[in-house]
Amino acid sequence: MAALGALALTACSDESGAATGEQFPELGSPAPHELIAAWDTDVRYDGAGLPPGEGTRDQGALVYAEHCVACHGETLRGVEGVQGGPLIGAGQTVTQHWPYAPTFFDYVRRAMPFNAPGSLSDDEIYGLAAYIFAEGGIYPADRPMNAATLTAMEMPNRDNFVPDPRPDVK
Ligand code: HEC
Repeated sequence: MAALGALALTACSDESGAATGEQFPELGSPAPHELIAAWDTDVRYDGAGLPPGEGTRDQGALVYAEHCVACHGETLRGVEGVQGGPLIGAGQTVTQHWPYAPTFFDYVRRAMPFNAPGSLSDDEIYGLAAYIFAEGGIYPADRPMNAATLTAMEMPNRDNFVPDPRPDVK
């Protein structure tokens, strides 16, 4: 935790220039760039930055059963009274409402499982993508998922997003 705190502080100081080591000499030490790079993994919507590795639907189903089912449900459509919410099906779900598939990798690697973010391997996340997208009916169940296949996916509603003209919306 202390290391992360120091990283956060250093990352902030890079941007604002406000909080520097000189200003707060008692707080941590400057984080080397390699450390920040390893911590701040960055996969772009177009697939840039996706790591090597691969996972199948069946492998993903096992990972899901162990790490995701409690909050997202047996059918991936959420659990009554639990905050995970649906991942597939109607509504603002991953398969219906996300324009780019690689974002799934970036999000899950950073944020899920909610109670242990950062704990999954790259292969496990590829397997989860294969499983969840197959269950959502937008990916063949027998095709392994990797950087190339994830990048090649066309999400169903990709072309149905429109720019929001309101000036206060970025
Ligand atoms: C302890 C409960 C919990 C577990 C376990 C969990 N999640 Fe979640 N998940 C959440 C919550 C809560 C959110 C909403 C987070 C938010 O909006 O900030 C969420 C959101 C998501 C989203 C974004 C959904 C969207 O459309 O915005 C994805 C994708 C996701 N989880 C995938 C997974 C996967 C894959 C696993 C297993 C590796 C997993 N989650 C395990 C609670 C959980």
